[in-house]
Formats: sequence, C-alpha cells, structure tokens
Amino acid sequence: MIDVAFLGTAVRPAGTAVVVDVLRATSTITLALHSGYERVLVAGSLDDATALRTPERTLAGEVGCARAPGFDLGNSPEETLEPRGSELVLATTNGAPAIVAAAASADEVLVAALLNLGAVCAQLAGREDVLLVCAGTDGRVSLEDVYLAGRISAELEGPRSDAARIAESVAAFYPVAVDALQDSGGAIGLRREGLEADIAFCAQESIVEVVGRLTEMVDGAALITAAPIPAAQAPARERHT
Ligand code: MLT
Repeated sequence: MIDVAFLGTAVRPAGTAVVVDVLRATSTITLALHSGYERVLVAGSLDDATALRTPERTLAGEVGCARAPGFDLGNSPEETLEPRGSELVLATTNGAPAIVAAAASADEVLVAALLNLGAVCAQLAGREDVLLVCAGTDGRVSLEDVYLAGRISAELEGPRSDAARIAESVAAFYPVAVDALQDSGGAIGLRREGLEADIAFCAQESIVEVVGRLTEMVDGAALITAAPIPAAQAPARERHT
C-alpha cells in the first residue's frame, strides 16, 4: 500500500517512511549529501543540535526560516555546496522532527526532495508498504510537501490509499513544480526572510542521484547517509564488481 501522512506528527509504523520537506529540510539534506557531506545528523531540536557540536561538525539550522543564532549555516540547500567537513548537523522546525519521528516508527527511512525525485522513485520500486510523510509547516498541512508526495505516489505501482489519491490530485493540478512551491505556506517565511531564491532552487527536479537514508540513531539524532544505488539503476560495470 502507498499511503500519505499529511503531517510529520501523523507518522505511523511502516515498512518504508519517505520524509518530505521540500521547503527546505529534505532538499538541504539531499544537496548536502550530493555536495560531499558523508553524514548528516538530523536533530529533533536546536538544543539537540547544539549538544552535538564538535569542532569537526558543521551546524546548520533555522528559526522562522532564518539562520539559528550561533549556527554555522542556515537551512538553504545551496549553503551546503562547499562542504566544511564530512559531518553536517541539521535542526529545523518541521522537517528534522519529522525525520526523527519517522526513525522511531518505520523499518526504513528515506529522505525525498524534488532535487532527487527520480532517484527516490527508483529506490521505492518494488516496496510494498510505503508511507510518504509530509513534514508540513508549523503544524499545518503544506502544499509543497503534499505536491511532492503526490508526484512520488503517481510513479509507484500497487494499491494506494485515499490519502495518496488526494496527494496525486494535488500534484496533477500543478503542471509546473515551482508553481506549487510558490503557492505554498512554506514559501511565506522564505519570502519574509529574503530567501525567495530557495523556492526556485528547491523546485528543480531530479538534478541529483543521491537519496538520504537513515543509518542509525546517534545520541538522539537520525544519522542520514547516502543509500546504495539500486542494482537496476547502477551502471553495468558497478553491478559486476
Ligand atoms: C522546516 O523544517 O520547518 C523547514 O525546513 C523550514 C525552512 O524552510 O527552513
């Protein structure tokens, strides 16, 4: 069954939970792994992230979309393009807690964005119990997350719930991804903080191949690393080595 949880707080046990926070946490995690960070420690709160600080780790996080006081980076994906080390610690308002919650109840957790849409769908091929978890914005359902959940659901085979059909209908309403993001509640805070460029950046589709996957919990944080590329997707040379 393909199902959708419209809020991060509505996560339930599932074989595979796919967490979506297009604006911007899951886009930032995805681009950080693509850029060369080997490990992203996703913390449930700013305090939890601060407790994870070491000289080797880069701290990223936001409050009301603006960079958290004392943190090295905010939550703009492009801030991760030049890694400062191998480990990024990330704390955000909605997306990061949704990942930590999913880690507590799903057998497997993946991190999805429009940036890696094609690679996420390739990872999910053949999975039978998929819960697409929309992080939402400040406790409210957010359009951009439901849009991406619908885009992913529409690519998967097998039975789907009414929630998945609703998400697919939302996705079908928007022929162009950036329009769904611009219309969303998640975009309001970004415009307020002068971060509107992040909206167009996060609306780019399938520009990276990496998919973040929960490896383990580390001191209360969800450790996200790059999932191995599925055999069907890997270049023939890799498959035979
Ligand atoms: C969140 O987790 O609430 C978002 O990623 C907020 C943001 O855009 O920084």
